[in-house]
Amino acid sequence: MTIENTLSIIKPDATKRNITGSINAKFEDSGLNIIAQKRLQLTKGMAKKFYEVHKDRPFFNNLVDFMISGPVIAQVLRGENAVKLNRDIMGATNPKEAEKGTIRNEFAESIEANSVHGSDSLENAKSEIAFFFAEIELVY
Ligand code: CMP
Repeated sequence: MTIENTLSIIKPDATKRNITGSINAKFEDSGLNIIAQKRLQLTKGMAKKFYEVHKDRPFFNNLVDFMISGPVIAQVLRGENAVKLNRDIMGATNPKEAEKGTIRNEFAESIEANSVHGSDSLENAKSEIAFFFAEIELVY
């Protein structure tokens, strides 16, 4: 049994539509615990730094602009195999390819406005969590 922490971000398309509770229910119904959570308005600098790995991709500037277009909710999800479990709950990046019942299948508007971000590896989860949270803010 491997208990992991992973970073989740509920994106501006979802905070604007007031569906953050429905998204959190998906996490909790699947057994993930929300052990830290904060609502914040990202600055351009923060969004650029967070998505630095994508800086050479054609969608980078639009992605940054979208991520600062409204509030986000950064959260830490904890549970067994949390990194993969969260990615399964989110569904494919492109909502057209996301399986039925997943967050992106039910809620995402487009590949960009796809409602949630989730860490793609345990290593990245650690650095992404540290980007938003101090150790003392993870409460379980
Ligand atoms: P996310 O998991 O937050 O990681 C990078 C984001 O870039 C991704 O979700 C998408 O919302 C966004 N994005 C926008 N366009 C594309 C694209 N063509 N391919 C992949 N990701 C894209």
